[in-house]
Amino acid sequence: MPGIPREKIDEVQAAADIVEVASDYVGRLKKSGSRYMALCPFHDEDTPSFSLTPEKNLYYCFGCQAGGSIFTLVQEMEGASFPEAVRQLADRFGVDLPQDGGESGAQQSRRAPIYHALRFAARFYYHQLTTTDEGQRARAYLQDERGLEEETIKDFGLGYAPGQWDALTEAAESEQIDLETLEDAGLAIERDGGGHYDRYRGRVMFPILSRVGRVLGMAGRLFEGAEGPAVGGDFDPPKYINSPETDVYHKKEVLYGLHQAKGALRKTGEALLVEGYTDVIALHQAGIEGAIATCGTALTAEQAKLLGRYAERVVLLYDADEAGTRATLRGMDRVLEAGLGAYAARLPEGRDPDDYVRAEGADRFRRFVRKRRQGVAAFRRAQAERDGTFDTPEGQTRTMRAVADSLALIDDDMARENQVRAASDELDMYEKHLREAVEEARREDRQQEQRRRAPRPPVPDDAAPDEEPPEGEAPAGQEEAAPEPTPQECNLLRLLLERGRPMVELILGHMALTEFTDGPARELAGRFLEMYRDGQVEPRRALEGEFGPAIQQLAASVMTDAHEPSENWRERDINVPRLNQRAREAAASSMRLLKLRRVDEALEDAEADQVRAAATPEAEREAQQRVMRLQKLRQQIQRGEFFDWEE
Ligand code: UTP
Ligand code: MN
Repeated sequence: MPGIPREKIDEVQAAADIVEVASDYVGRLKKSGSRYMALCPFHDEDTPSFSLTPEKNLYYCFGCQAGGSIFTLVQEMEGASFPEAVRQLADRFGVDLPQDGGESGAQQSRRAPIYHALRFAARFYYHQLTTTDEGQRARAYLQDERGLEEETIKDFGLGYAPGQWDALTEAAESEQIDLETLEDAGLAIERDGGGHYDRYRGRVMFPILSRVGRVLGMAGRLFEGAEGPAVGGDFDPPKYINSPETDVYHKKEVLYGLHQAKGALRKTGEALLVEGYTDVIALHQAGIEGAIATCGTALTAEQAKLLGRYAERVVLLYDADEAGTRATLRGMDRVLEAGLGAYAARLPEGRDPDDYVRAEGADRFRRFVRKRRQGVAAFRRAQAERDGTFDTPEGQTRTMRAVADSLALIDDDMARENQVRAASDELDMYEKHLREAVEEARREDRQQEQRRRAPRPPVPDDAAPDEEPPEGEAPAGQEEAAPEPTPQECNLLRLLLERGRPMVELILGHMALTEFTDGPARELAGRFLEMYRDGQVEPRRALEGEFGPAIQQLAASVMTDAHEPSENWRERDINVPRLNQRAREAAASSMRLLKLRRVDEALEDAEADQVRAAATPEAEREAQQRVMRLQKLRQQIQRGEFFDWEE
């Protein structure tokens, strides 16, 4: 992990307390032996199966198999990256980190002061709004005309940019924030003749936060009663001034309100995508907290993917006009592509969520959304009916194709199939026809995708896809239910995870990778071998998800108490040399049992072969010899002869 040094990560891991962290996300924690149990935050359940192991700072759910380290818990719950999670825990548990790790040094030193300037500006504007005389007008606007409460203003960190040319620039200078940085943050603009002036003047300010609450940029809205150089003059100023793209603000990746909506999204699984900042805020205040918005752009694939970390369906609530309808249709496609359910509801002409919820109240708003939301097919059909084209065969065909194109974006076969079934009902057409159209659209999408990648060298003929897969590997895409690793393997993997390097030498020196069950167990053992060869065995990488979710789950599962390598493992009074001896004994006994099991499996096969081979005497003799060799091997293993004790 470049950026944050490994020692620092270890320091955070040592300082942090998973019980305290998890209590933010799960309800009541109950102590049970050396671990804590709670209702799992990753799936719905009535009896607690989410377990925390405080001395190792790991979690594992016996119900849904979610598991990992304290860092991955924060990653999952906050939708944070690994470095973000480390940073957050470092802050919370008082570990000093070098500035802004996780990126190259040059990028870090460029971005850190920008974040600093943005945070400063957000505080400055908030202070102007809530405490100054000039801010009083903006306060009156927000409270009286927009109906916002103080609490809401605080939650969203709203502010006021004073009317002068240089209110922020001056304040920043007196804080030793240089004007170049202010400009890089999008807050100041350089004058032709040199010097800087404030980008936002006489406006209500909406800070744009990252999902973990960092200020990334600002939007400033005009309001009646504002004063200063923004107002007057002989041109019409824009209603919103938006932040330019900067080193920290990429508007295509940001969702306004996500920071405030996260908790609600996780609870309800449903995001409401609205058009404006004020819609998000008004809905939030009304208790509809899963509202988010893009910052004046259409929904992008990145944003849809980001939403997918928190929600499983999205309801788009855009204006009922033509632009709104187009944006809705495109947005739904991005949502489907991201693997989420896509719905849209048309608000009554001329209304936006903000005025609707203020006029009608939260309950009616909720009921409206529940009753009026439509999937892609129903939405398209309603649109075609309004145009008067749905009762012509051409119109129907066009609608059907458009729906098929959208459904083709759903990658998951079962989800797509369910949608096809529902959509064919909505469109009053044969399921089979829609399915064919969807498959056709998928073929076209794939071809286009291939053409996009065309510059790559062509695949040589002898690697044709219909070639037999190498022995022992399942053909790709045809996944059978993977066999479960045996309890002995789990013990061995746990020993590897707990003790690292010496156990790699002991265990993987005496076991072939193929003796581990195919799948995550074998992969995890393989990762240990790789790390060993690379000179650094860091078991935690498995728990932190670096080797993929399947390995992460397995690692958390074997480290959680259900798999005790030896009965008295947790006895506190075992001294270290003895513990080591015990670990070796536990490893040896697990290896012996596992090897026996593998030999027995091979014996079973060989004996079956022997019966089948009875046709020719030669084959019979060969099969018999194999059985005898295996039996001998079995005895050796039983005596522990595979294992050299003199170490
Ligand atoms: P709206 O005009 O609907 O604004 O634009 P709004 O946020 O609902 O504000 P109120 O309710 O009139 O106060 C919707 C969104 O379009 C973008 C903004 O993101 C806004 O929230 N927009 C609008 C701009 O970027 N620039 C503009 O000049 C206008
Ligand atoms: Mn509005």
